[in-house]
Amino acid sequence: MNKTIILSLLTVGLFSASCQQKTHTLYLDELDMSKIESQWGKSKANKSIDGATLTIGGKTFERGIGTHATSKFMLNLDKKGVRLSAQVGIDDEKTTGSVEFYLIGDKKVIWESGLVKANDSAKTIDVSLKGIKKLAFLVTDGKDGIDSDHADWCDLKIEYKDSVLPEFVDQKAAAAAASEKFILTPKPAETPRINGAKITGCSPNKPFLFKVPATGVAPITFTAENLPEGLTLDAATGIITGKVAKEGEYTVKVTATNAKGTATRDLRIVIGEGKLALTPPMGWNSWNCWGLSVSEDKVKSSVDAMLAAGLNNHGWTYMNIDDGWEAKERAKNGEIVCNEKFPDMKRLSDYVHSKGLKLGIYSSPGTLTCGGYLGSLKHEEQDAATYAKWGIDYLKYDWCSYGQEAPQNPQLADYKKPYIVMRDALRKQSRDIVYSLCQYGMGNVWEWGAEMGAQLWRTTGDINDSWQSLYSIGFGRATNSSTEYSKPGNWNDPDMLVVGKVGWGPSLHDSRLTADEQYTHISLWSLLSAPMLIGCDMSQMDEFTINLLTNDEVIDVNQDILGKQAKRVIMESGYEVWVKDLEDGSKAVGLFNTGGVKEAADYFIWDDQAATSNTLTISATFEAMGISGKQVVRDLWRQKDLGEYTDKLEMEVPYHGVVFVKVTPSK
Ligand code: GAL
Repeated sequence: MNKTIILSLLTVGLFSASCQQKTHTLYLDELDMSKIESQWGKSKANKSIDGATLTIGGKTFERGIGTHATSKFMLNLDKKGVRLSAQVGIDDEKTTGSVEFYLIGDKKVIWESGLVKANDSAKTIDVSLKGIKKLAFLVTDGKDGIDSDHADWCDLKIEYKDSVLPEFVDQKAAAAAASEKFILTPKPAETPRINGAKITGCSPNKPFLFKVPATGVAPITFTAENLPEGLTLDAATGIITGKVAKEGEYTVKVTATNAKGTATRDLRIVIGEGKLALTPPMGWNSWNCWGLSVSEDKVKSSVDAMLAAGLNNHGWTYMNIDDGWEAKERAKNGEIVCNEKFPDMKRLSDYVHSKGLKLGIYSSPGTLTCGGYLGSLKHEEQDAATYAKWGIDYLKYDWCSYGQEAPQNPQLADYKKPYIVMRDALRKQSRDIVYSLCQYGMGNVWEWGAEMGAQLWRTTGDINDSWQSLYSIGFGRATNSSTEYSKPGNWNDPDMLVVGKVGWGPSLHDSRLTADEQYTHISLWSLLSAPMLIGCDMSQMDEFTINLLTNDEVIDVNQDILGKQAKRVIMESGYEVWVKDLEDGSKAVGLFNTGGVKEAADYFIWDDQAATSNTLTISATFEAMGISGKQVVRDLWRQKDLGEYTDKLEMEVPYHGVVFVKVTPSK
C-alpha cells in the first residue's frame, strides 16, 4: 500500500469518528401530553389515566405515560432515533380490559404486543429506530370496546442523536388541514315545508308540548284541524300545548302558510301511557362539547344559537344537560340541588319550553356520577319528583359508580335492578320524562330496555371525533343483535354526534372528522334510526355544520315512522352498503367507502397522505338490496333526482364518505 492511500484511509477513519454523533437518552414523558389523543380522559406524564402511580402486573414505575385506548401519538424523529425501550400493559387500576400496543415507523408496524389483558405483567419493548422518519404510537381496544382500557407506556425512552426531542406531531391540526369542508345541500326553499316527526305522543293528562317545525320565509302562520280536546295551537309559533284526558290516536292536519304559499301535513298525535319518543329524539347534549364545565349560561347560549340558526324548524328539540350540574351535597331534606353554575333550573326550563324546546338532565343510579358528582342512589323518587318540579323532559341515567353496588359478575337481574327503581319513580310524576339508559350496552340492554320503560339505551362505549371511533361504534351495529329491537318508542343509541366544535371540557376544537366522515356520520345515524343529539357548542356552528344538520330529506330518513333500523347488505374490503325500509315503501340506501381502516398505520395522518384521492366505485345490485323493478333514485344530500335505475346502483364514493340515496319504485 503506498503512502497516499494509507493517509487517505486514516483521514476517512478520523473524519467518520468525528461525525459519529453523541446520543442522548430522552424520556417521552417530558413532552406535551396535550398532543396525545386518548379516547377517554387526559393522558398524563408519570401517572395512569386516572392519576395514580403507574403500575402494571404489580410492578410500579416512576416514569412513563398513562393513556386510555384508543390512544395515539406521533414523533417526528427525522432519522435521529437509535433505539426505543419501554414496558407496556394495562394499568392495575383496572381489573378488566384488553388492548393491543403498536409502534409504527413510516407506516410499517415495527413492534406489536399482541393481545394484552388486565393483570398481565408488562411487556418489554426494545427496538431499533434506524432510518425512521416518523414514529407512531398506537393502542387499540383489543376489539372488545374501550371499557377499562387504561394503557400505560412505562419507562418510555429513546436513544436520540440530539439533546432534545421534538414535540409530538399535532395530529388534530394535521387532520383539520387534510379536511376541507364542502357543502352539499341547497338552502331551504322560500315556500313553506313542514319538517321533522310526523308522529308524536304523550301520556294522558300530562303536559303536551310540540312545535310544528317548518321552514320558508318568515312570517309563517300555522293552523291545525282536528286537534284533540285539551290542546291549542299558537298560530304565530306553531307550538301546540295543553293536556289531553282521553287516550287515542288523532290525525291532525297542520298547515303552514307564508307569503310564498302553503304546506300541509298530517301529524299523528298519540295519547297513551308512556307513548313517548315515537321517533328518535333529536336535540343537543352538553357532554361532547363542555364536559363537566357545563353551565346555565352555556346551555342558554346553545338554546339561543339553536333558535338563531333555525334548527328547531327542522325538528331539533331536546336541550340536554349532561353531568356536572349537581351540587356537592344534597339539601337537609335529602333533595338534590344544583351547583352554582345552574342558579335556577326552573327558570331555564321555562325559557326552553317557551320556545317549544324541551330540557333534559343527567344522573346515575350509583352514589356518584361518572364525573364524580352526586348520583341518585336511595333518592330515586325524590330526584324524579325534583326533576318534574323543575320541568325536566328527559333523563339520561348513567350506570357509573353503580358498579360498586352490583355484584362482581352481574347477572341480568342485577343490570335491571337500578333501572327498574328509576322507571317506577318516573312513572309517578305529573309530567312525561323520556328515559334514556346509559350503561354502554351491558347485558344486551336492547333485549330488555323497553321493559325498563326506557325510550332509548346506549349500545356502546363513548364516541369520540375520530374515524376509528365512528367506524367501530357506527358500523359495528351490524355485528350485534340489537337491530330488531329498534321500533317507535324504543331506540338503540350509538351515542351522540361528534360534529362542529367539540372538546369534552372548557377548550374546544373542530371535530377531527373530515367533511366526508361527517356526511357518513349523519347518514349512518339516520339509517340506524339513532337518536341524534348534537354534541357541539351550537353558538360556534359554522355554515358547514348548520348545513349538515338541516337537510330535511336526510332527517326524514332518521324520523321515519316505521322506526326500522337499517341492515348491512354488502360488506367488502373497503366498502359497505346499508338499507333501511321506509314507511312509503321506498328504501334509504347508504353506499359507504370505509377505506379499510383496519391497518394500524391508518389511524394516523402521514405527510404524503392523499386521503381524498381514494375514491371508490361502489356497485350494489337491486337483488342484494332486496329491490326489484325500475326505481327512481334521489341523492338525499344534494336533494336531486339521479334518474331511473333498473338493476343496480353504481356510484363514485369519496374516501370515508357516502352516497346516500332514496330508492322509490317507479310508477
Ligand atoms: C359517561 C357517559 C358519557 C357522559 C359521561 C359523564 O359514562 O357515557 O356520555 O355522560 O359519563 O360523566
